[in-house]
Formats: sequence, C-alpha cells, structure tokens
Amino acid sequence: MRKKVLLAILGLFFASAMFSKDYIVSTKHTSLIFKAEKGEKSIFQYYGSKIDNISDVYNAGLNMNMETYPAFGLNNKLEKVVAITQPDGNMSLDLVVDSIEQINDKNGSKTVIILKDKIYPVEIKQFFRTYTNTDVISTWVEICNNGKKPITLYQFASAYLPVYRGENWINHMHGTWAAEHFMEEEMLTNGQKVISNKYGLDNTKTDNPSFMISLDGKLNEKTGSVIGGTLAWTGNYKIKLNANNQNVTVTAGINEENSHYILEGKQTFVTPEFAMTYSNSGKGGVSREFHKWARNYKLHQGNRLHEILLNSWEGVYFKVNQQEMNNMMEAFSAMGGELFVMDDGWFGNKYPRNNAQSSLGDWEVCKEKLPEGIEGLLESAKKNHIKFGIWIEPEMSNTKSELFEKHPDWIMRISNRDLTTGRGQTQVVLDLTNPEVQNFVFGIVDKLMTEFPQIYYMKWDDNSCLMDYGSSYLPKDRQSHLYIEYQRGLENVLKRIRAKYPNLIMQACAGGGGRITYGILPYFDEFWTSDNTDAIQRIYMQWSISNYYPAIAMASHVSATKNHQTGRIVPIKFRFDVAMSGRLGMEIQPKDMTDAEKEFSKRAIKAYKSIRPVVQLGDLYRLVSPYDNKGLASLMYVTPEKDRSVIFVYKISHLIDMKLPYIKLDGLDENKLYRIKDLTPNNEKSPCRLNSKVISGKTLMEQGLNVKNLLKNQYGSLALELNIIQ
Ligand code: GLA
Repeated sequence: MRKKVLLAILGLFFASAMFSKDYIVSTKHTSLIFKAEKGEKSIFQYYGSKIDNISDVYNAGLNMNMETYPAFGLNNKLEKVVAITQPDGNMSLDLVVDSIEQINDKNGSKTVIILKDKIYPVEIKQFFRTYTNTDVISTWVEICNNGKKPITLYQFASAYLPVYRGENWINHMHGTWAAEHFMEEEMLTNGQKVISNKYGLDNTKTDNPSFMISLDGKLNEKTGSVIGGTLAWTGNYKIKLNANNQNVTVTAGINEENSHYILEGKQTFVTPEFAMTYSNSGKGGVSREFHKWARNYKLHQGNRLHEILLNSWEGVYFKVNQQEMNNMMEAFSAMGGELFVMDDGWFGNKYPRNNAQSSLGDWEVCKEKLPEGIEGLLESAKKNHIKFGIWIEPEMSNTKSELFEKHPDWIMRISNRDLTTGRGQTQVVLDLTNPEVQNFVFGIVDKLMTEFPQIYYMKWDDNSCLMDYGSSYLPKDRQSHLYIEYQRGLENVLKRIRAKYPNLIMQACAGGGGRITYGILPYFDEFWTSDNTDAIQRIYMQWSISNYYPAIAMASHVSATKNHQTGRIVPIKFRFDVAMSGRLGMEIQPKDMTDAEKEFSKRAIKAYKSIRPVVQLGDLYRLVSPYDNKGLASLMYVTPEKDRSVIFVYKISHLIDMKLPYIKLDGLDENKLYRIKDLTPNNEKSPCRLNSKVISGKTLMEQGLNVKNLLKNQYGSLALELNIIQ
C-alpha cells in the first residue's frame, strides 16, 4: 500500500514526513492527491471525493499522472502555466521538487510544494489551502527570483487542474451591461474554451472568473460529480479549459496578455488564489460550499445581516437636493426601511454634478443642492430613525473637474496620443499605480468618515473600463505591468480603508454587476448585481450569480413600474418576491408609489425582516430553473438546523392552459412536519390556500407542492415560510 503522508483534515495535525511520495490534502468530503519526490517532477494525481486510502486511487486507476505546475520550454506538449525568460535569454524552466511543507492553523491547513529549477535561481512555491468546515481547497503560486538580475514572466497562472475526461459539461456566465450574468451551459467539446476578460476594471460585465465542470454528463442541481472553480482576482482573468480525448486541463490565472512582468532579483510574484470545490451533489452542492466559504472567509463581515435600504438613483437620478432626500427618507422610514443611500449627483461646486459629464474627483458637497451639507442629511436620517449611506466613484475623474485641472498627470493616458474618454464623453480613469493617487483615493473615504463617522454605508462605483493603456507613473519599460499594478494599487487602498473602517458597510458596484469576484469581495460586504432592476430579468441573473456568490451579498432592489430598463409593468408583489430572495432593497421614488403599493411594501419589509437570517445566512436549494423553460422558477433557503425555510416561486411565462411542474422542496428534515405561512399575500386578510397548512418534510420533498391554481395570473408569485413543528 502506498504511504499516506500528509493528511490535512480540519483541526488535526499530522507531522509532515519529507521522504514519502504521495501527499493528500483533505477537507471533510474531498481530497486532492499529488506525488512529490525530491529531485523529481511533482505529479497531480487526484481531486474528488474524500479518499481514506491513497492506494484506492491507484488500484481504481483514478490517478491522473500529470504535472502539478507544467512549465514552458522542455519536451512537454501539454498546456503550460508558467513561462519565464532568464537574463541570458533561456526561455525554459525545468522545475523539480525541493521539499514539501505543511502548516496548520485555526482556519485550516496550508500545503506547499517547493519547486526549483535545476540550473537557474528560480523557485516556485505551489500552495494548497483548506478552509475549516468547508469543502473548498484553494491554490496559488509564488514565483521567486532568487537571482540578482531581472527575469521576465510571460505566463504565470495560479492553477493547473487536470480533470477526468468523460462527458463534461460546463456552467459559466456571459453578458453585457444591464444583462450581466446570463447562465451558459454547454457540453465541452475537444479544443479550447476560454473564459476571459480584459476590461481592466469592470471585469465581470461580460464574463465571470467562475465556472463549474461536470465529470459525468449534463449538469444537475442535485446529482452528479461537479467541480466548481473561481479565481479570486478582480483584474483581467483567463480560465482556459483544454479538452482532448485523454483529459481536460483547467488553467486559471491573471490574463497574461499584454501583461508580461519583469521580476527583479530577490523579488517574489504572488498569483491570486484559485478556489475549487468538488461535490457529488451536483451544482447545488458546489454552490452551497462556495456560499459557506464566502460568508466565513471571503466576504467582508460575511455573517453580518444586511439592512433593507432605499437607494436614490432610480428615484431622482442626478436631481439630488435636501428636500427630496428628506422626503425619501421619511417615506422609506414609514415603510419600515432601515438605511437610505444617496447615490450620484451630490457633489461638485465649480462643476456641479448634474449629469455624467463632469465633477468626478471633486468630492465636496454641492452647496447649491445641499446647503445644509452632509450634516443636514445625517440630521434628517436621525430624525427618521434610519441609517445613512453615500455613493462615490473614487477611481475616476472627468475632464471637466477641478481634479483634472489640478492633476492632469494623475490620469491614465498615453502621452503622445489623444485621451480616450468614457461615460459622458468626459470620464477618465485615475492612475492607481501611483502612490500619490492611492493616497488621494484613500483620502476620499477617510475624509468623509472622519468628518461624518455616522456614515454607515458606501457604494463604491466604477463606471469605466481601463481605456488608455498608459501610466505616467510607471517607467517606460514597465508599462506592461499596468493591468496588474492597478489592481495592486486598488488593493492597497482598500486594505487601508478596511484597517481603519472595519465596520463600514461597502458595496462593490461597477456600472451594475461589473465587479463580482472573490478578488474584490474580501473588502466589500455586498455587490450591486446589475443596473437592470426588472424583476423578470433579475430572476435569470440572480439565478446564475447564485451558483457562485451568496444571497447575503446580492443586492436586489424593488424598482418602479414600468421598469426603467425594460419598460415592463410588474405588480409590486412580484417585484418584492424577487428582491426578497437576495439582499432586499428599494430603488424607487416613494412619492410616485400608490398608497396600496406603500401599504404592501410595509408588510413585505416587515416579512423580510422576520426571515432575513434564513435568506442571508441559510443554505440555498435551487428547485426549478428559469433557464429550463418550465413556465416558472423556484428556489428556497433553509437554516442549517432545517427548522425554517423560505420558498420563492415565480411564474415567468403566461399562457392559458399551461403545464406547470410540482415544486419539490429540498434540504428539509423528512421526518418532521412543517407549517406553511404566506409571507406576502396581496391581501393581508386572504393569504393563499397554502397558508397554515401542515405538511411533512417527506411529502414536500418527494411529491412537492402543486402551485398551479395559485399562479393563474401573469406575474403570479409566492413567498412562503416553513416552520418546523417540534
Ligand atoms: C452606475 C451604477 C448605478 C448608479 C449610477 C450613478 O451606473 O451602477 O447604480 O449608481 O452609476 O451614476
């Protein structure tokens, strides 16, 4: 029997033995195995269900026999993850194992394979990390130039993952502004599938660095072996799935195109973390692990319940003024709201921000619009017993702004070419590679928070991609570092903000859902899912986002009818039932709402408060996919104790005489009885037929609920609570 040497199970410590061949990194239900011997290549053998005896993997022929970190240059035709040019022009690496290390801490374990080139002073440390109480294993590398002269990195992926070649299907997202995150599922054919983006800043507008791959046929919610992966990097990314009849290999990392990196002597380049999880319970199993991991390890304050907020954007757009803000706060507070967020339009004096054409960078309250200043707004919030938040877009400027006039050199541009401008034909990006600019950006938050410590929430927006690839701060021969150094500059700023303001709630927004990654989320509490607030389209977007990102972080707002983006007219109940499946908020002008809508909102807000922990901290089960064209969509959340649950059902197409599926619930205790409560009846006095019914977990899961007669009308929807009967 082959010797099992390193077992990285939560909380347990096994002394690392330096001489054996096979190493195993395990979580509660999964294992990753590699073979490593001093002076030899390190070999990836297995990633999948938990293995107790390594010999099983070899006896069953499950071992992959592929390098853990294949380098360019020697006789190896497979995909490469690293390519380095040495000072003497040699483009190859010959990496062999030097040693293996393991460290256990309270958050899990860290296993490191130290690889060294046989001749050149290049060392690569390949990390595998586990996270206590999750089935997530992450991996990344450190590339150390131990020589004196600089070397150039042309490829520097975080991860290389060989996957069994069966009938593999993949899940990922694609989209554009206001239509982000549409789910794509397809069979992986031989050749390459690349998921990538190079916008520089708002990198999840088109795609997202997250995916799933099945090992045994079409992807299902409840069954099948699935690996999920996500790259924790908010800059340009590239995930490449290379398939042939023998295997699939996944390479994931920073998108290296136009980003070769000169690494000075004695310097180390650290790649971002790539996190993966494996489940035998289909996509649902993968999602629940990612959510748990996000809440416990990645998302800032990931277990802190979020307030119900009203954002002013769709209500007033740029027409911010004291009276309007007072009115909105008062009306929202009367509906039970907890937090008011003043969006764009509040700043600029020489150039007041009346549209998108000016003022970014001039973060002074516009005296004309808000003569009482932020003080006046905080006063009003206090009077209305709600918290106050504010919008900023700190990485940006407009050519029409005092900032641009004072610091033209702070702008990202190419010196001998015309300046490209974005939104409003004037928007430009600040050069965050420059420490002076980093100080300025930090100062925006710091000044607001120092003067007004009562500010509870900030929405941090980014409405531009990186347009002109040029920095006057970076040396001429280091311009290719720009995409990477920008992100590092941003991270420096965010780290400083978090060190000083750990309790501030911050939302990551990038013209909607342009910045949803585990690279940015460690500094943010939530993300703005999309500028599209149409309830129907949101069902599709939120569904795909939920594959990888947790509900607590998914800002989901009730907006006006007709909807400002799609023009669709949708009843208030449906709009609430959709928004309540994430972090509920509103984005509406209260004075344009009818009394009946306000009355309904009040009840729905109250209901959401009562089930908030179930949605925001519970386990998600997706029941009927909107992408399956079954006429409806349904999902539910269950507490870890299985004593409470919330179920959402949405009718998404409407024809007379339709077939509709039963809603088979999941995640409940089959031996217990549950009482149903209609959370959002249209009429308080006549809840739906299911209200107060008691049904066993077994029936609910095996047979389900017949909702056909409850969803007769167009935009029929249900939000139901289940409570266990002890
Ligand atoms: C972006 C955001 C919106 C809003 C506007 C303000 O588009 O996504 O929510 O904040 O900017 O200009």
